[in-house]
Amino acid sequence: MSRAYNFSPGPAALPEPVLRQAQEEMLEWGKTRSSVMEVSHRGKEFMALAEQSKRDLRELMAIPDHYKVLFLQGGATTHFALLPMNFARGGSADYVVTGAWGEKAAREAKPACAVRIAASSESDRYFRIPERAGWDLDPNAAYVHITPNETIGGVEFHDEPDVGAVPLFADMSSNILSRPIDVSKYGVIYAGAQKNIGASGLVLVIVREDLLARCPADLPQILNYAAHAKEGSLLNTPNTFGWYLAALVFQWLKREGGMAAIGARNAAKAKLLYDYIDGSGFYSNPIDKAVRSRMNVPFVLRDAALDEPFLKEAAAAGLLALKGHRAVGGMRASIYNAMPLEGVQALVDFMQDFARRHG
Ligand SMILES: Cc1ncc(COP(=O)(O)O)c(C=O)c1O
Repeated sequence: MSRAYNFSPGPAALPEPVLRQAQEEMLEWGKTRSSVMEVSHRGKEFMALAEQSKRDLRELMAIPDHYKVLFLQGGATTHFALLPMNFARGGSADYVVTGAWGEKAAREAKPACAVRIAASSESDRYFRIPERAGWDLDPNAAYVHITPNETIGGVEFHDEPDVGAVPLFADMSSNILSRPIDVSKYGVIYAGAQKNIGASGLVLVIVREDLLARCPADLPQILNYAAHAKEGSLLNTPNTFGWYLAALVFQWLKREGGMAAIGARNAAKAKLLYDYIDGSGFYSNPIDKAVRSRMNVPFVLRDAALDEPFLKEAAAAGLLALKGHRAVGGMRASIYNAMPLEGVQALVDFMQDFARRHG
């Protein structure tokens, strides 16, 4: 076998025990004598998996009872459009833009509601998060939208911003389940699955129940969060294999010690890499240290002419997918939950050796 350390931003590395379990159960899942992909989503076995997965997620994230957990589809991008349709129609929503994904979320909301950019760090090339005191929030906004972790730029909110009585909506696609968070500070948390949850296509939506009363009744049911909540995410055929993988990941997270243990491990991984970059004199990361992402670590080499050799040699050393996003260039190491500390250490060792040979 030649599985390598995969630093892909998404779809990203999955925990090996999860992949192995899925492999073992591929042909016969439980007592069904079928693959999990071949059974009814309304059958008792799948319904039991769905319920268990919700219980596990609620336990992991300490989700209060007055929140609904939905397993939907369409990638996070679909929900950029659905959130304003459901919660802000005819009104306005505030967006705090700290990178490319926040920009896209705001752009996709425009057909459904008035969009106000309450704050943006675009003029600082998204290297920081605008000071909360300077945000121009509208107390009548339907919600305030943030992107807690910007996957491309590598900027992360390390705390929930206080936005008063207006519900806070968060695209946690790239940092959900990476550390303990206080769910009660949010109105909606949503996340595409392909980083810390499982397979692309599946989208997790955690929504405060009272907000569902705002979903317009004349929306097509399939676009309506209240309808999905009423049907327990089984309004139509869900992404059953994606849901199954997510359920395995939640159980793996519990076995690994839950969010406190995972958060500590992720903090240690990020510190190892940033400390090395900062002290190297060969690599650099431009992000304000207070808001550096613990999941996506962009960095540049002293000489961009070395980018291609770096990527080639890294791949040969079993360190994959380190090329930065085309919008920012350089490198990016995505170190989600499934990346072990040993993988980050292997990357640092390689970077050290490369710098010694080319510095
Ligand atoms: C923070 C963030 N939001 C949204 C998306 C878009 O997700 P999808 O491609 O599943 O629609 C991504 C991309 O992976 C992302 O990193």
